[in-house]
Amino acid sequence: MSNFLIEGGVKLRGKVNIGGFKNAALAIIPSAILCKEKCIIENVPAIEDVNVFKEILSNVGAKVVMLDETTMEIDSSAVKEISMSQFSPKNIRASYYMWGVGLGRFKKVTTPFPGGCNIGARKFDYHIKGFEALGAKVEVFGDQTISFSAEKLIGNRIYLDFASVGATINIMLAAVYAEGRTTIENAAKEPHIVDTANFLNAMGADIKGAGTDVIRINGVSELRGCTYSVIPDQIEAGTYMLAAAATKGDIIIDGIIPKHLEPITAKLEEMGMRIEEYGDSLRVFYEKELEPVNIKTLPYPGFPTDLQQPMAVLLSSLNGDSIIEESVFESRFNYVDELRKMGADIDVNDRIAKIRGKGYLTGASVNAADLRAGAALIIAGLVAKGVTEINEIHHIDRGYENIENKFMNLGARIKRVI
Ligand code: UD1
Repeated sequence: MSNFLIEGGVKLRGKVNIGGFKNAALAIIPSAILCKEKCIIENVPAIEDVNVFKEILSNVGAKVVMLDETTMEIDSSAVKEISMSQFSPKNIRASYYMWGVGLGRFKKVTTPFPGGCNIGARKFDYHIKGFEALGAKVEVFGDQTISFSAEKLIGNRIYLDFASVGATINIMLAAVYAEGRTTIENAAKEPHIVDTANFLNAMGADIKGAGTDVIRINGVSELRGCTYSVIPDQIEAGTYMLAAAATKGDIIIDGIIPKHLEPITAKLEEMGMRIEEYGDSLRVFYEKELEPVNIKTLPYPGFPTDLQQPMAVLLSSLNGDSIIEESVFESRFNYVDELRKMGADIDVNDRIAKIRGKGYLTGASVNAADLRAGAALIIAGLVAKGVTEINEIHHIDRGYENIENKFMNLGARIKRVI
């Protein structure tokens, strides 16, 4: 088990290049199974969750080859079925996309229940409701196995009670080959919904409206191979932006789509950070003492729940009070106990955290409870007086590529101890 040792107190300076968006890659990679020709996917991030998907795709019979560090070729012509015996115990939340592609291509799919970060119930009733509306039958075997099947899928109108990212993408995947038109209302609008729809359309699907709350999918009979590049990771970019603010730094975030970062840019500017936009990069720099702000996480274009924890670290490092309301997940404050070990003063009541910033944090030995909590603790370590040890960093490797090198290039004193 490796861990990170961080010596705090350095103001970050320099340039960081942002990789491909984890959550988009984790939808696009399995989507390639819908097509019997080769697909080439560029700008794939070098993260552990992608490795898990490579394994899942290989196990179901696809040929997956890395043409270079970030380019993946997927040939799924030999895939005949998606069934339980093909899955290894390694599992991630996004393995639920195998349902949509399995139903779409084979009209039948059996998988284990999805894994992923423990941040609340993370139900999938909207996925099931959507598949059922298209004509699929769901069967659950014990608490480990779930199966979907259909004679044929027929387009329908599906209203989501909450704009779920996973359900929106999964219904799109299943509906690509359904007869007639499927309409998803109250669809999620996150950039990776648009990216996945663009990939499917590049293969010949007929999807309109991705990025708005109504998506229309006209079923097609065939998809063809294509080359497609994944969008940059707005959550990785946002993590470095918040780290720059917390360390009073001055950094360039390169290779991004600034529009996707507007919810973070707006909050940082409200706090007093300076942000300048240059095409596909942002300069984020500290000029004057930052003011605390209140945050409410919301589906895109609201403030992303995946940056709630790094934001809590930034707010804890300032002088003054602030409130964070988590409206997307039920229990996403399980990192607070670790932050308290570093001197943070935070009260949590249900979905609300009250932060009394004291202007500093102190180094401690802490555990990364999940992916984003782990990234938040790195920022806490960069700000803290003294040395911070972060354990269980495998959670961080699931979703951040090369994170210690990227921070080291910005001047951070961080090392991985194996
Ligand atoms: C995805 C992202 C995750 C991000 C989240 C919200 C991936 C692999 N993960 O997760 O990083 O934090 O979007 O932006 O892309 N819900 C239900 N029933 C359902 C589906 C969801 O009640 O059928 C609830 C969930 O429990 C949660 C909320 O809706 O409280 C949001 O979930 P959803 O948008 O589906 O997130 P994920 O797909 O799990």
